[in-house]
Order: sequence, then structure tokens, then C-alpha cells
Amino acid sequence: MVGLIQKLLFDLIESSAGEEAGREVRRRADVPQDKEFLIYEAYDDAEFRRIFASMLDVLNLGQEEAEEAFAAFFLKDSEVRWPIWFKMAKNAREFLLRQPRIHNGFATSQRDPALRAAIDDKFEVEDCDGEVIVHYKSANQLCGLYMALARRVIIHYGDNAVVKEACCMKNGAPECEIHIL
Ligand code: HEM
Repeated sequence: MVGLIQKLLFDLIESSAGEEAGREVRRRADVPQDKEFLIYEAYDDAEFRRIFASMLDVLNLGQEEAEEAFAAFFLKDSEVRWPIWFKMAKNAREFLLRQPRIHNGFATSQRDPALRAAIDDKFEVEDCDGEVIVHYKSANQLCGLYMALARRVIIHYGDNAVVKEACCMKNGAPECEIHIL
């Protein structure tokens, strides 16, 4: 997982629950207290999953609640940090169709082919007569985060669209399929 995500997760934890909560998440997730997450560097996905699970315990949050909170925090940060991506798309549909390319841009800077593939292989998107169909496959199982972010992108552009999951890895499907219409 590219460090942008872990950095922003710790920013969210510390701004909402204080620095000690951040230290406790690091202790439980077995992450050194002085480890810095660089926003363009890829780190082990398993470490990310320990951080996310520890955040749920320390902040006493359910998965969906945490995904909603992180989606709000992440999108607000992205609007300021990466304004060009929002300017380049004239509506939510265009933004969501470009989202895998935005992600894969982070893969190109990784020298390790395994880390590069781990980023590249997570999302595929299809444009089906106005409907956006997303194929998402990741051991991180963050389809709830995807849907929370997609809904916020729709609000960002003032569009009207419904986000639905047609099938989910958590129910044994080989991938999550999300439809936005
Ligand atoms: C400017 C906007 C965005 C930027 C810069 C960005 C960047 C990133 C980066 C760097 C990662 C880590 C990738 C990895 O290591 O695999 C990530 C993960 C993720 N992003 Fe985005 N993202 C953006 C917008 C979005 C949007 C709009 C959505 C959904 C509609 C989204 C959904 C996700 C999900 C679900 C993950 C977790 C993937 C996984 O590990 O399974 N992102 N994002």
C-alpha cells in the first residue's frame, strides 16, 4: 500500500483521538513508533491491514464507520493536495473512469515489480453506456471505502448517481463488482 494512505490514516487517528491513540495503534500493529510513511513509497499490504484493524480496536469503530470517516478525510485532503485531478474531470463519471490511472501513476515510481503489480492489479473500470462498472480485487477488501469515496466524488461534482455492489469478495466472489449509474 502506497504510504499516502497510512500517513493519512495516522493523521486522521491523531486529529480525532490524539497522539497517544496513534502510538497505541502503532504498538498493536507492530509498527515502529518512529516509522515515517512517505506518500510515494509502497509498503507491505499486510502491515496496512494490521494498522487498519488496530485503528478499529483503538477508536472502537466498525469497518463501515471507519471507511466512511476515512473517505471524508481522504477526499478533503485530495481536493487540496491533488486539485488537478478534480479539474481534469468535468463530472463524477469522468473522475471515476480515471481513478485506476490515478492509482497506477503511483505504481510507475516503484522499482520492485511485485510492489508495482500489487498497485496495478487492484482496479479495472468499464464504461458501459453511461454506467461505470468497477472490478476491484484486493486482499485489503476495501470495497466499502471505494463506495464511500465514489459517493463523495459524486457529491463533489453535484451529480446524481447511485453506487451499488453487485458482488463482493467478502461473500466469496472472486472480485468485487461495483456499479455506478
Ligand atoms: C486524487 C484522488 C486519489 C488519489 C491521489 C488516490 C491515491 C491512492 C493511493 C496512492 C492508494 C494506495 C494504492 C495502493 O497501494 O494499492 C489508494 C488506495 C485506494 N483508493 Fe485511491 N486515490 C484517489 C481517489 C480515489 C477514489 C475517488 C476512489 C474511489 C472511488 C479511490 C479508492 C481507493 C481504494 C478502495 C483504495 C484501497 C485499495 C486497496 O488497497 O485495496 N481512490 N488511493
